[in-house]
Amino acid sequence: MLHAMDIDVWLQRGAVAQPSSISDTLATGNSAVLDWPELQTSVAACTACELHRSRSQTVFGVGSRQADCLVIGEAPGAEEDRRGEPFVGPAGQLLNAMLAAMGLSRDDVYIANILKCRPPGNRDPEHHEVSECSGYLARQIALVEPRIILALGRIAAQNLLHTATPIGQMRGQQYTYGDTEIPVIVTYHPAYLLRSPGEKRKSWDDLQLAMTYLAEVKA
Ligand code: URA
Repeated sequence: MLHAMDIDVWLQRGAVAQPSSISDTLATGNSAVLDWPELQTSVAACTACELHRSRSQTVFGVGSRQADCLVIGEAPGAEEDRRGEPFVGPAGQLLNAMLAAMGLSRDDVYIANILKCRPPGNRDPEHHEVSECSGYLARQIALVEPRIILALGRIAAQNLLHTATPIGQMRGQQYTYGDTEIPVIVTYHPAYLLRSPGEKRKSWDDLQLAMTYLAEVKA
């Protein structure tokens, strides 16, 4: 999944439909080298799927671009769409608490989503939307070069790992991202944990696993 060549093809395809200067650059074949500002501009101008019609704004990502831990959620909700930042609504409050329990703050990690635009009514992302958006996240991952990825919820985990395995079976397993050796730790989405607080214990087990990987990096 998300190999450099796929990113090239995807970005160049997107470039045809987007008459921005970055897109012109992409069309000339320099797509693999988008830096942060170019990537951010490209996301903000994206019209690759219909979600651009209903969004207030794109939600790019936030946090440290040198983070050891990259946190990946599903898609912006209403509050994120309004404020342009991931995980700032109720689920975000719980995510902050989860990070604090790991000894981390939002500034210590990088936070992004599978989709950069809010699906109307917070419905699940559609396959073609994930596919149109995947190059942006792939480039974010390549730029951050995290030591671990924490996948929040079924949508993030299944799309990052290209599997239909139920999340309950993915938790606690050893996965790596694409053809890299970056471990992917799967846990429940904070929005699910708000609805099912009894599952927090399991999620804490997952976070402790993530902390074990992070401790190895620092050792
Ligand atoms: N849920 C997500 O998956 N991402 C957000 O940014 C907010 C809520």
